Amino acid sequence: MKVTQLDCLCVILLYLLHTAGSEKFEVLGPTDPIVAVAGDDIILPCYLKPNISAEDMTVDWLNLDFLDGRVFRYQNHRIIRDDQIPYYRGRTSLFEEELWRGNTSLKLTRVQGTDEGHYKCFIKAKSWYDDFTIQVLVKAVGSKPVVSIEGHREGGMGLLCETEGWHPEPELVWLDSKGVHLSAGRPEIHRDLDGFYRVKQHVIVQETDTNRFTCRVQQSRINEKMETEIHLPSELFDTTPWRMAFIVLCCLGAIAVIGLSLAIYYMCNKKVHLKKESDELWEQNHELCEQKYDRTEELSK
Ligand SMILES: *[C@@H]1O[C@H](CO)[C@@H](O)[C@H](O)[C@H]1NC(C)=O
Ligand SMILES: *[C@@H]1O[C@H](CO)[C@@H](O)[C@H](O)[C@H]1NC(C)=O
Repeated sequence: MKVTQLDCLCVILLYLLHTAGSEKFEVLGPTDPIVAVAGDDIILPCYLKPNISAEDMTVDWLNLDFLDGRVFRYQNHRIIRDDQIPYYRGRTSLFEEELWRGNTSLKLTRVQGTDEGHYKCFIKAKSWYDDFTIQVLVKAVGSKPVVSIEGHREGGMGLLCETEGWHPEPELVWLDSKGVHLSAGRPEIHRDLDGFYRVKQHVIVQETDTNRFTCRVQQSRINEKMETEIHLPSELFDTTPWRMAFIVLCCLGAIAVIGLSLAIYYMCNKKVHLKKESDELWEQNHELCEQKYDRTEELSK
């Protein structure tokens, strides 16, 4: 059998097609978001279809909210820790014993607030690559709100409500005993290093018939709500001692003013009186002088 050049080319082409074809795969994972409870360990599922081995491939896990760095990299049969986002240090791993059957799922331990986001599982072979993106939502139920009394403020009583350890960011509301929203100050929101939220909010309340006030923290996405009620004794609102002190001060002030005016008036009067006296004396003196002059004239005559 004669082997032509064309036959040769066909064999080479078939070989190339075959090798390229054998590398082809799809990367798959869950289409629904994964809801992770803070503090738990979770698995981000990702696998190859067909279930060929990923042992010789590069497996990259990325959090798309972070432009720099990776969550995890497996390459040349090794774990690469350069460029790892600091938040993930010591918390990520692959199931290396599962790689041979195309299982490239990521294990993430001690979930924290900063873990929420979109994760890309990117797998690259010599001549083929594919990826799949998974959404992770983090749920953290924080502390029961703590209410404290701050004292008299702008004609009412100042209260403060604080809560921490939430994800996502919760909402604080102040209510009176009838459940009516009270207008409160702007909420102060802080995020700690692990990405959990702490919120506090001031309010100034006026005396009511019950003097009961409630601080409620709520997070609708994770469907959580907690409340703390405070009862203020009405004596707290009682400003009588202050009012008495004010009145006494006013009276003292008035007395001082009246006293001072009297003193000034008296002094002025006295001055006028003295001036009159001295004028009179001067006049008398003048008269005497005149008389004396007359007498002298008479005498000289
Ligand atoms: C790969 O998938 C096939 C079915 O699609 C299954 O029969 C086989 O056991 C799987 N192999 C491994 C190693 O999981
Ligand atoms: C991958 O391996 C992990 C750990 O054994 C397992 O929980 C998970 O179900 C596996 N995923 C697939 C797609 O086989």
